[in-house]
Parts: sequence; structure tokens; C-alpha cells
Amino acid sequence: MAASLSSSVTHISAYAAIDAIIKEEIPVIDLSILRNATPNQRPQLIQEIGQACKEWGCFSLINHGVPESLRTLMMEAFTEFFDLSEEERREYLGKRILDPIRHEMGISTTAEGEKYSRDFVRIFVHPAMHSPSKPQHFRAILEEYARQTREIANDLLTAIGESLGLDESYMEKALDLANGHQILVGNRYPPSPQAHQLALGLSAHSDTPLLSVVMQKGSIHGLQVMHNGRWIPVQLIPGSFFIHTGDLLEIVSNGKYKSLLHRVMLDERSTRISVVTAMGPPVENIVAPAPKLVEIVSKNSVFPSIKYVDYVELVKYNPFGKSVLDLLRI
Ligand code: SIN
Ligand code: FE2
Repeated sequence: MAASLSSSVTHISAYAAIDAIIKEEIPVIDLSILRNATPNQRPQLIQEIGQACKEWGCFSLINHGVPESLRTLMMEAFTEFFDLSEEERREYLGKRILDPIRHEMGISTTAEGEKYSRDFVRIFVHPAMHSPSKPQHFRAILEEYARQTREIANDLLTAIGESLGLDESYMEKALDLANGHQILVGNRYPPSPQAHQLALGLSAHSDTPLLSVVMQKGSIHGLQVMHNGRWIPVQLIPGSFFIHTGDLLEIVSNGKYKSLLHRVMLDERSTRISVVTAMGPPVENIVAPAPKLVEIVSKNSVFPSIKYVDYVELVKYNPFGKSVLDLLRI
């Protein structure tokens, strides 16, 4: 996600070993089983989702119901967007964090001086739908893709709420998911031959919203997740989505489900494109630990309540060189 959407916590990467050989498997969740489960079957699935969130902060989602044809159309539409001339893309370039469409290109540098390279376009798609006017058909594809992935995120958030011991309707109501803020980001990472000495596509960060849904096409893997102090490369199951936790979920769960730290490495030879959508509450909503979890964990909250939009601004303009979640923790 855009650096602006995320808390930069690159200091951790300095301590973490890169271990590509590690065989630990990212959990797999079957959405069709969750959606069709009888009341007797549901608790088992809820428990699996809870375990994945607690132990990993992420899982692969299979049988999610989004047709491969729509996924392909979405990928192609973002590819065409990036292939537009610079002139055509200029109107969306590098504006403010809360602008509904924001495009950035090229190499960026973190506060610690680490360089990374990606192009991205970040679009607000719900509750108000925005879209670049080109390529043709982009809006129609974006709208349908956003709708289907929003349903997935909301179903998963309901299940995640249940796994925390909250009522089935808690997440939907407390976070007003029907009017939730959904962002769609297309990322393009250039190839980077070793001679360029540029390894990173996106530096280590966590995503700000509640839950992110990642799609990549083909077999150019570059996404890595932090697990037990190690970077684990994500080998996406073909046709699956990769789901991961965000900062606001860490707040709502009162620290029980940590926001996933992740980064993207560049491929030596190939361009990688990914599409990420992230779901949050309405931007003016206050986000707070679920009261039930505050009582269970301790008499005090681990996190204070905060307005979503204020959190976003804090992440963007954070001058402290420490993750915003760490700054807020009571
Ligand atoms: C991101 O962190 O938002 C990008 C993930 C990816 O490109 O796989
Ligand atoms: Fe991200």
C-alpha cells in the first residue's frame, strides 16, 4: 500500500533475517465453506480464521467466488492505466493523501534512507465511487471488482469479529461497514537487474485499514511477510486472494490481532503488477477497541479511540520514526 496509507516501520527489517528456505506454510481458508457452513460447522471455521489472524496476520483465500475473468479484466485495466502516456496520467499525480485518486511513480526513499521503486494508483471506490477516465471500461470493471471484494472483506470481518468472541453483527455495526471506506490500489513494480542495486519495491510497512485483499497475476512473487522474526516469501496459490490484517483491526481487537508487517521485493527480470483493496470504516468514524475485549484483556484499553481520518494523517505526517500503533499504545 502507499507509504501514505501505511506505517513505516523499517527499523524491524534491519534485525530480521531473510530466509527463503523456510518451509512454514501460510494458512489457507476456503470462503465457500465459510459462506455455506451450517451452524454446526461455522465455529470450526471461525476458529481457523482466528488462529490465522493471531499467528500469522494473513491467509490465502480460495474458492472466494470472484470469477477469474473479472480478476483478469481488473489486472488488464490497471496494466493499461500504467501504459497510458505520462501526459494522460499527469492529472492524477502526487496529490494529497485524502484525494480520491492519487498516482505516484518511480523511486522513493524512506526516512531511514532506504530506496524502493514502484508506480501506483490509489483510488477511493466506496462509499463514493471514483475512477480515472481512462482506459475505457476502467470504471465498470473497477466498480464490479470493488463490489465483489468488498463483500469478501465484510464477510471475513464478520467472521474475524466472531473469532474474537464478539457478536456476529459487532463489526458490521460498530464499524458501519455498509458505508465503509474502501480503497483500491494498482501497483506496478519494475524489474531490477542486480546491477541497479535496488532490491525493494515497497519498504516494510503495515496497512492502515482493517483488512487488505491482495491479487497478483502470474508467478512473479515479490511479497514477503514478517512471521516470527523472519521474512517469508508469499507463494500465492493461483487464483487465490491473499488476505491480511491492518492497523485498525489491531486497534479494534485491542492488540489481539497484530497488523501484518510486509514488504515487496523486485524481480530481476520481470515487471510485477498487484491489485490491493483495503476496507475500513467511514473515514469520519471513531475507531476504538471493542469494549468486550477491553474487559477481557485488562481494565485499561491497550489503544485509545481515534478518528480514522486522524489516524491516516498521523501515519502520513508521522515525524517520530516509530510506528503510529507503537506511539498510540497505552
Ligand atoms: C502492498 O503492500 O500494498 C502491496 C502488496 C503487493 O504488491 O503484493
Ligand atoms: Fe501494504
